[in-house]
Order: sequence, then structure tokens, then C-alpha cells
Amino acid sequence: MFILDRILPFIFSYIRPFIKWFLHAFTRLSELQRICYGARAGASRTSQVERSLTLSKRTQIQRLVLDLDGAAPYVNNEELLEFAPRAARIVMQAKRIKHNVHPDFARLLGTCVTSIWGYRRLMHQVEQLRAEKYDSDNLDHEEKLLRLWQLLMPETPLTGRVTKQWQDIGFQGDDPKTDFRGMGMLGLENLLYFATAYNDAAKHVLLHSMHPTLGYTYAIVGINLTSMAFNLVKTGSAKTHFYNLVVQHRQDFSTVEDFHKLYCYLFFEFDRFWMESDPRNIMDFREIYQAFEITKLEALHNDSTIFKTNLAVESV
Ligand SMILES: *[C@@H]1O[C@H](CO)[C@@H](O)[C@H](O)[C@H]1NC(C)=O
Ligand SMILES: *[C@@H]1O[C@H](CO)[C@@H](O)[C@H](O)[C@H]1NC(C)=O
Repeated sequence: MFILDRILPFIFSYIRPFIKWFLHAFTRLSELQRICYGARAGASRTSQVERSLTLSKRTQIQRLVLDLDGAAPYVNNEELLEFAPRAARIVMQAKRIKHNVHPDFARLLGTCVTSIWGYRRLMHQVEQLRAEKYDSDNLDHEEKLLRLWQLLMPETPLTGRVTKQWQDIGFQGDDPKTDFRGMGMLGLENLLYFATAYNDAAKHVLLHSMHPTLGYTYAIVGINLTSMAFNLVKTGSAKTHFYNLVVQHRQDFSTVEDFHKLYCYLFFEFDRFWMESDPRNIMDFREIYQAFEITKLEALHNDSTIFKTNLAVESV
């Protein structure tokens, strides 16, 4: 298995030009055309287009990929949408694809281009949030933290800003500010989004976390799941989900809100997985967390996977 994993890409890169030449002579279509017409819309097509573009030997296409990579982190939505016609124009020029003969190609390729560089922009956006440290002198940060409490514990007012009550929602000490650590504001934004957009589901999970024997620390585990979601995006594993999502939801590109929704899905599913694993106590956390991550990674290897945020709360 491992040897094959290492050798196959090598063999592949060696014979790839011959396969391409052969298929082109045979079908009169370029590789990108075969992918756009032949592969199923979503992760399957988009990932193949991505690979074909990034492996291209044409200087125009290589320059295009570099340019889009450089610009993607900083573009607004309008500018991102200009990537598609630009890429289509350059690819069609480089490959001598005529618009009147292949009227659908520009649109099919463009959809993939927007999805690919939308994901690359999303990587940058979540990285920005992660790099922003929680700062208790920042009113915006403080206000978000207090709102998290109100959303999760609407019945119980906080007795002070620094109080042992924070442990009731699973922070470690009497001031949450140190608990965000490596995940920064991304951790807080995730927790807040879950509590806002799926308030019933979040309270339901919070209730589970307070279970006398099966309980866990809600906020700390939530921040661990931020790190899981963040790593899925950063390593590219989450492409499957996001490339399918934009097709299914008929959106052009994925957004930070889609990232929050992925997080909510992971939190809700982790809670279920935890309860079903029947842990002895919190000491089992690492093992169960890793087993959970593996099932999600395996699912993402299937290119039809899309994580559905259908957080139905069964009656407790
Ligand atoms: C969970 O988070 C805690 C605190 O941030 C960290 O020390 C621990 O390593 C994390 N565990 C996992 C499995 O990620
Ligand atoms: C991938 O997922 C689809 C839909 O969930 C399923 O029908 C298919 O059997 C899966 N493929 C593999 C190889 O597991």
C-alpha cells in the first residue's frame, strides 16, 4: 500500500504526457474539456480541473495559476467572480478552443475556477481569524464572549466578568480569555455561530456535556473541534465538502459562514459519536476525538461526500 502510494504518483507524472497526447489524438478534446464534459459536477470535476491546471506545462496557464493564487486572499466577491472569465479566456487561447464550437466550455470551466479559488480565499480568511488573539481590552471580543454566555445560559445571569460560572459552559478557569490559545478568535466565532444559528442544537449538546458521567467540557471541546475544522480546510481534505456544497446550494464560492456551518456539523456529530462510544470519563477524550476525525477523513475521501448541517434535535 505505502510503496504503491509513493510510486504511483511518480509513474503517473512520467506517463501523463503520453496519456494526454493519446487521448487528445483520439478524442480531439483537451484534458480540461474531457474533464468538464465527462466528470460529475462537484468535487469530482472541480478537483480534476484543479489538478490539470496546476500541473499544466503551458506558460500562460502556469502564469494564470500563479496570478490567481497571489490575488485570491485579498479579493472581494466581485473581483473573485472575475477570475472565471479570465481563466476561460486564457485556457481557450492556450488550447485553441473555439467558443462557437464549444459553447459550454467557458461556463463549465469558470464554475470550477470560482470554486477552487473561492476555497483558497476561504483558507486565508479562516487563517486570519485564527491568528487574531482573544484580547480582553477589545470591546468587540468581550461583547462576543458575553453574548455566548447569554445564548447558552439565557436563564442564568453572569455574576461578574471573571467568575467560576464560565466552567458551567466548559471553560477551564474563571476567565475564558486564555482558553482560546492557538485557535484565537476563530474558536470564539465558531462557538458563537453554533449558539446563534442553531440555538436548540447547541443547548442540546451543552446539556449532554453536563451529564454526570458522560459529560465533557463544552467550550474546550468546542475549541478542539475548531482546530479539527481548521485543519481539514488547511490540508485540503475539506475540498470535497466545499466543492460539492457550492454545486448543491447553487452558490458560486464557499464563505466563512459555510465554514461555521461545517463546524456546527462537526460539533453536533462529535457529541453523538461521544455518547455512542460510551466513554468511561474525559480521559477517553483523545482516543474518541481521533477516531471521530478518522471517520470524517475517510468520508472526505469519497468524492460525493457533503456534510449536511441538518441538526435535528431529537426530544430529550
Ligand atoms: C484539546 O484542547 C486542549 C486545550 O487547547 C489541548 O491541550 C489538547 O491537546 C486538545 N486535544 C486534542 C485532541 O486536540
Ligand atoms: C461514496 O458515497 C456515495 C454516496 O454516499 C455512495 O453511494 C458510494 O457507494 C460511496 N463510494 C465508496 C467508494 O464508498
